[in-house]
Amino acid sequence: MTRIPMIAGNWKMNKTTSEAVSLSQDISYGYDSSLDDVELVICPPFIDLKSVSTVLSFDKSRIALGAQDVFWERSGAFTGEISPGMLKEVGCRYCIIGHSERREHFFETNETVNLKVHALLNEGITPIICCGEDLATREAGETLPFVISQIKAALEGLNEKQAADLVIAYEPIWAIGTGRTATPEAADEVCAAIRQTVGDLFSDSAAQSLRVLYGGSMKPENVSLFVPMPNIDGGLIGGAALEARSFIDLAKAFA
Ligand code: 13P
Repeated sequence: MTRIPMIAGNWKMNKTTSEAVSLSQDISYGYDSSLDDVELVICPPFIDLKSVSTVLSFDKSRIALGAQDVFWERSGAFTGEISPGMLKEVGCRYCIIGHSERREHFFETNETVNLKVHALLNEGITPIICCGEDLATREAGETLPFVISQIKAALEGLNEKQAADLVIAYEPIWAIGTGRTATPEAADEVCAAIRQTVGDLFSDSAAQSLRVLYGGSMKPENVSLFVPMPNIDGGLIGGAALEARSFIDLAKAFA
């Protein structure tokens, strides 16, 4: 089974609307046909989604739009929240869920991740589900059971087809924004365990079609170490996604 590699840029809380327009235009100009076999996704802050969507459609770009979070209800008295339907209408094909920064600062739990996964799938938006351990968990040798339990909780109640189309991003917390990456072999081992968990829960074919990304200080200078890894299908990129050239270079590494 050949999986289409993905490079997704998580802009986090960066870029005003004018800066987001300019960055998305630069990424769009930097795109060339050598990238046709890689899926590029950009995930700006909520407030920038509409303008970035306009840039991408004006350019008839193949680059997909994603959000960084969502609420699970369809509408109602939930001040400050954004629904899956709102993301759909603005053109989002993807949405990051359960990023460690949301788990740490905004009380995201495995249960709310699961609610969001279902709400997105009901709207036809593909979740990019984040998982990953902190340093204490890694040093205790508990990485695999910890990550597997995050995945089992996130995927609760899905069917095989839904699982097969998911994207899961393994992001060890100690590697995010630190300049320190997991070794490619260690990252691949966790990505393989994620795939195996999907195989155990659903089927081998779901496990083989699911895409698993690595995230955590992935940059043009180190990406070539990750590309040959059999269970890593691309990257979820933070810092290096905030500059068009490095984002495009990362995507080219997977082309
Ligand atoms: P960095 O690439 O800046 O380490 O961030 C990774 C990340 O958290 C992407 O979601």
